[in-house]
Amino acid sequence: MANKKERILSPQHRPDDLRENTIRPRWLSEMIGQNRVKENLSILIDAAKGRNEPLDHVLFYGPPGLGKTTLAHILANEMNVSLKVTAGPAIERTGDLAAILTNLKAGDILFIDEIHRLGRAVEEILYPAMEDFALDITLGKGPGARSVRLKLPHFTLAGATTRLALVTSPLRARFGALYHLDFYDLDAMKAIVVRAAKVLDIEIDKDGVDEIACRSRGTPRVSLRILRRVRDFAEVRANGHITRAVASNALELLDIDELGLDDADRQVLRTIIQKFSGGPVGLQTIAASISEEPDTIMDVVEPYLLQLGFIKRTSQGRVAMPQAYKHLGIPLTKDNQPRLPEL
Ligand SMILES: Nc1ncnc2c1ncn2[C@@H]1O[C@H](COP(=O)(O)OP(=O)(O)OP(=O)(O)O)[C@@H](O)[C@H]1O
Ligand SMILES: [Mg+2]
Repeated sequence: MANKKERILSPQHRPDDLRENTIRPRWLSEMIGQNRVKENLSILIDAAKGRNEPLDHVLFYGPPGLGKTTLAHILANEMNVSLKVTAGPAIERTGDLAAILTNLKAGDILFIDEIHRLGRAVEEILYPAMEDFALDITLGKGPGARSVRLKLPHFTLAGATTRLALVTSPLRARFGALYHLDFYDLDAMKAIVVRAAKVLDIEIDKDGVDEIACRSRGTPRVSLRILRRVRDFAEVRANGHITRAVASNALELLDIDELGLDDADRQVLRTIIQKFSGGPVGLQTIAASISEEPDTIMDVVEPYLLQLGFIKRTSQGRVAMPQAYKHLGIPLTKDNQPRLPEL
C-alpha cells in the first residue's frame, strides 16, 4: 500500500507554508547560500541599473523549495519594480497571457512559475513578446484574417521550473540567463535554520540547529517546516527550548531518519532493491508498484536520492547503489549483489 499520509519532508509547497512569506529573504544580501547564483545575479542587476535598462529575461531551475520564487521577489526588490506572479497551468488561453502582458509597465517583472507547463499556443505568444516586446494578434478568421502587432513595454520575464528538460528549446533560447539552484550545503542549512528561528522567535541551541539542518535534505522549505514541527514538540513535550535531544526525538516521531529520509524515500529504495533486485528499473514501474505519481517521484524523491548517491539513473532505469543498501541495513553479497529478504 502506498503511504498517502502528508509528507512533512515534501519540498513541494503546501498551504500551511503560507507563513513562508514572512521569512522569505527580500534582498540578495539576506539570501543565504547559492553564492554563484547570487554573484551572477548581482552583476546582472548592477549592469542593468548602470545602463538604466530593464533586466534581461531570467530562468531559474532546480528542485522544489530551494528559492526560485524567492529569487524572483528579490529581483523585483533590487530593481525597485513591481512583480506580477502567475504560473504555467494558470494561463489557459492566449487571451489570458495577452491580458497579462498588456497590463505590464516598463521594467515590471512577470514571474511565470512552472513555466514548462505552458500550452503550445500560449508559449508562441511569448516568443515575440520576449524577443521584440510585441504582441501579435490575429483579427478575424479564414482568408480575411489579418494580423496586427501591438507594442509591449520592455518587461522582464522571470521563469521558474523544476524540469528544465521540459522547457522547449525555442523558449529556453529566449532567456538571457539561466540559473541552476542546487541543494544547500550543511553550513548554509544551519545558517538558514538560525535565521528562521530568530525571525520566528524560537529558542534553539547550536546542537538543535545542527540536528535540524542535517535532516532537511538541503532544502530550505523542508528545514522551515521541520523547525515548526520541532517547536510544537518542544512546547508540548519539553520546556519550549530546542536542544539536540528534543530535535532528534521529534524527528524520530515524525519518522525522519538521520539523513532526512522518510517513509516514501525508503519505500522507493526498498522497491528498487527488493522487488527489482537493485535495478535497473523504470520510473513508471517503481511508481506503479508503490502507487505513487511518477512526477512526484521524479520531482520530490529522486533528486535528493541522486544527490546522496543512493541511486543512479541509467538508460535502462534506476539502479540502487551500495550506499543505499548500507543505509537500509540490507546486506550486499560478495559480488555486490543484494541478498533478497522477503518483503
Ligand atoms: N537562501 C535562502 N535563505 C533563506 N531562506 C530561504 C532561502 N531559499 C529559500 N528560502 C525559504 O524557503 C522557502 C521556499 O523557497 P521558494 O518558495 O523560493 O522555493 P521554490 O524554489 O520557488 O520552490 P517551488 O519549486 O516549489 O516553487 C521560502 O519560504 C524561503 O523563505
Ligand atoms: Mg516557487
